Amino acid sequence: MPFSTIIDDLAERGWSLQSSFLSSDVTRKLADECRRRDTEGALAPAGVGRGEEQTVREGIRGDHIHWLEAGQAEVCDAYLALMDELRQTLNRELFLGLEEFECHFALYPPGAFYQTHLDRFRDDDSRCISAVLYLNSHWQPSDGGELRMHFSDGSQLDIPPLAGDLLMFLSADFPHEVLVTHADRLSLTGWFRRRPADVLAL
Ligand code: OGA
Ligand code: MN
Repeated sequence: MPFSTIIDDLAERGWSLQSSFLSSDVTRKLADECRRRDTEGALAPAGVGRGEEQTVREGIRGDHIHWLEAGQAEVCDAYLALMDELRQTLNRELFLGLEEFECHFALYPPGAFYQTHLDRFRDDDSRCISAVLYLNSHWQPSDGGELRMHFSDGSQLDIPPLAGDLLMFLSADFPHEVLVTHADRLSLTGWFRRRPADVLAL
């Protein structure tokens, strides 16, 4: 079955890292699309919190983001279609009742980071599974920018943002942070949601 390692990992330990989830060709097209949006000035500093309480706080996170919508670019539509297949498989195999997948491009310029946090908001428990796809094809250890997972036993795991790798984890269960990056760090960060986003709060 496609996605079977992801399903097994999530069921057994709540997180999964798939290296080369996407081909280098598709990954490069997604990276190009992220760069194109950045050049156009579409990427904006990401906020912290939700709805009207959302504020930009560079002390907490320094990435610039732009949300994906259907119909913007062929390669993005293909990614959304693939993630919808994954959503349906998760529902079938793990009975999660996921209704939606939302995602945005994120670009961390040199010096940017994201302090330790959970992806589930205090006032909204609809984000169920986080899924981060990395888009950096020539990443070096000296570039930093690792995603650090914090586990309940006190251990940590640092994951470099390598092109084509997909990291998934239960949004409520794993505190994580992005360590300071020393090169532009591109990703496509998304969430499978139990309920659709509240349009009024966006
Ligand atoms: C986030 C996040 C992780 C990453 O956007 O919430 O934690 O590796 N991103 O980009
Ligand atoms: Mn996060």
